Amino acid sequence: TWQGRDQGGRHLESPVLIYQALYDVVTAAHGNAAMDRMLDIDNARSVSEYLLHSTRTSFTDIIQLMHYPDYDSYTVGHSVRVATLSVHLGEKMGLDDEQLLALGTAGLLHDVGKSKIPDEILFKPGRLDKEEFTIMQSHARVGAEILMEHKTATPLDVSAAWGHHLRHDGGGYPARPPWAVRDNVTKLLQVCDVFEALTAIRPYKAPMTPHQAFEIMLGDEGAFDPAVLTTFIRTLGLYPPGNQVRLSDGSHAVVVAAGTDVLRPLVELTADADGQPVPESEDNLINLDDEEQQELSVTELLLETGAS
Ligand SMILES: [Fe+2]
Repeated sequence: TWQGRDQGGRHLESPVLIYQALYDVVTAAHGNAAMDRMLDIDNARSVSEYLLHSTRTSFTDIIQLMHYPDYDSYTVGHSVRVATLSVHLGEKMGLDDEQLLALGTAGLLHDVGKSKIPDEILFKPGRLDKEEFTIMQSHARVGAEILMEHKTATPLDVSAAWGHHLRHDGGGYPARPPWAVRDNVTKLLQVCDVFEALTAIRPYKAPMTPHQAFEIMLGDEGAFDPAVLTTFIRTLGLYPPGNQVRLSDGSHAVVVAAGTDVLRPLVELTADADGQPVPESEDNLINLDDEEQQELSVTELLLETGAS
């Protein structure tokens, strides 16, 4: 049912407009929840369709657009990025379209409970004390409660909001009654949520490289469903799509897709060794996984630090 237009009839082929539509829907949901107004969940669902379409056609462009420091609104940016990563991962894990649409919607709304957390806690630059942390943790339960008031919210939307901080080993929060089972979608969101938080550009911390984030996640035994985490790392690779890299011949490129080898993605050249932009051409696409490209490799991930 993808029609390439938003509710105002604007064409949503451009990644910028799709990003804007995702961003708007999360901003509206959080704004309405903060004011105790009803959320437009149907709208979130239709935007999730754009998200599915765009992850298929232009995941690199979208995820690249998202990788900038958004200091004022990072709970919104976070939800958009988590939703995008989860749909991308869900597709690699073999979910069908209906499941992917549901996943995208749940991803966009999963942190809606944060709209009830006071700004002093939400945006506190340092470590939260015990009491503040308890308040912060309540966003999972509160988000589920907000969504339960909506007839249009699905059980999946509710369970994603409630359970996205639950660990594979039963830890995390909220306290899990013994009969509660994490559904697959929530497991997937949890992995994307932690990865996004570790690699995000925030005012109070330097972003981790994907490699560092994977190391921490792999080292946190029992935190994640092992199959989901493994697929996630394979899907993104150590140089995830959308990132700028330096190649061993000095040229710069943007990563387009992960390769079968996590170190050897498909890249598109952007600048030569002297820093001169290369003209657009199909020849710029280099699959480092190819036999004849074995002498070329990625030497550095060029991360934006957000510091200027
Ligand atoms: Fe959360």
